Amino acid sequence: MQNNPTPFYNPLLSYEENYQHGPFGDFSNAAPSTEQNKETERFLNLEVNLPFGIPAGPLLNANFIKAAFNHGFDLCVYKTVRTRAQASHPLPNVLSIHPAGQLSANIDTVLADTNYTMPLSITNSFGVPSYNPDIWQPDLADAVNAAQTGQYVIGSFQGTAGNESCIEKDYARAARLVDETTVPILEANLSCPNEGVNKLLCFDFNKVERIAKEIKNAVPDKPLFLKLSYFADDNAIFPLLSKLDGIVDGYSTINTLSARPVTANGEPALGLDRPTGGVCGEAIRWAGLEMVDRLARLRTRLNNHFAIIGVGGVSSTAHYQAYRSAGADVVMSATGAMWNPQLALEIKSNLNG
Ligand SMILES: Cc1cc2nc3c(=O)[nH]c(=O)nc-3n(C[C@H](O)[C@H](O)[C@H](O)COP(=O)(O)O)c2cc1C
Repeated sequence: MQNNPTPFYNPLLSYEENYQHGPFGDFSNAAPSTEQNKETERFLNLEVNLPFGIPAGPLLNANFIKAAFNHGFDLCVYKTVRTRAQASHPLPNVLSIHPAGQLSANIDTVLADTNYTMPLSITNSFGVPSYNPDIWQPDLADAVNAAQTGQYVIGSFQGTAGNESCIEKDYARAARLVDETTVPILEANLSCPNEGVNKLLCFDFNKVERIAKEIKNAVPDKPLFLKLSYFADDNAIFPLLSKLDGIVDGYSTINTLSARPVTANGEPALGLDRPTGGVCGEAIRWAGLEMVDRLARLRTRLNNHFAIIGVGGVSSTAHYQAYRSAGADVVMSATGAMWNPQLALEIKSNLNG
């Protein structure tokens, strides 16, 4: 990895400024020409160059997606959209955090600042902003059209509480709007950490089942992934997988682990009204790997072949391989890719070499 890489998302700028002026660093230049993988891999019913990409979040719009495709990320998730506009939380949205080692799943208190030191862990806190569908629909369609052979966009979306009589209807509406852009794969985000740690949707199994069924009714013919958080043991998640057996096509996991980022003075680093934030990067890789391993084991127990997208703390070829060995069909990197836009090309070159 470069020593002082410029991230393609600038954490010092607002979400809107990144949306308008990004991507930055290497992503604002043409990619160096490198040999692509000769052998493709099968993912669902698609041929993908390398099952590696960027999960929902850092790819804000078609400009970011085009840059990611050019730099060899073959599966790119367009940032989670909603059925109506929602503003981002104010700055700071992204801070570096410095846990002593790996983060626990028990909302640890961690020092947060703007020293983005490697190996990097960050907290992100946006509140899942979205533009109106009349803005993101044509832009998402543009991103879908930018895919080259063996590359695909995944459309991430979520419902908004209070939008309609019940949230599952708004999830279904969002799914329909995303489907209209011809995106080939859908992903419903059920694990946003910034909407309240104790009310992550993915922990309410009956609600998740209703949401998944509504989405499938609305868009029956497209693969559907659910973005899940970390579950601490097999028994905690097995009932959910059983309920969704045959309804969804796979799971993307993990989103983030929640923590309390504080300044050197012990003040909430994201502001008094945001005492917790989702943590991503190096400190959560153990949790992503554990979840992938768990899902792979449980899919054998269920005799079900749902697909697994492994996410969390990937910043090297060895991490990519660890996720594949744990059972991930696809691996994705957000924090690692943001600070190393050459990551996909590096992994391809290492695997080919
Ligand atoms: C800047 C940023 C924004 C994110 N926004 C979203 C989002 O809108 N929807 C979502 O499902 N996950 C979102 N995430 C979570 C990532 O998809 C991913 O699950 C998480 O960052 C862990 O991967 P990593 O360790 O490679 O960063 C975001 C992450 C980052 C860093």
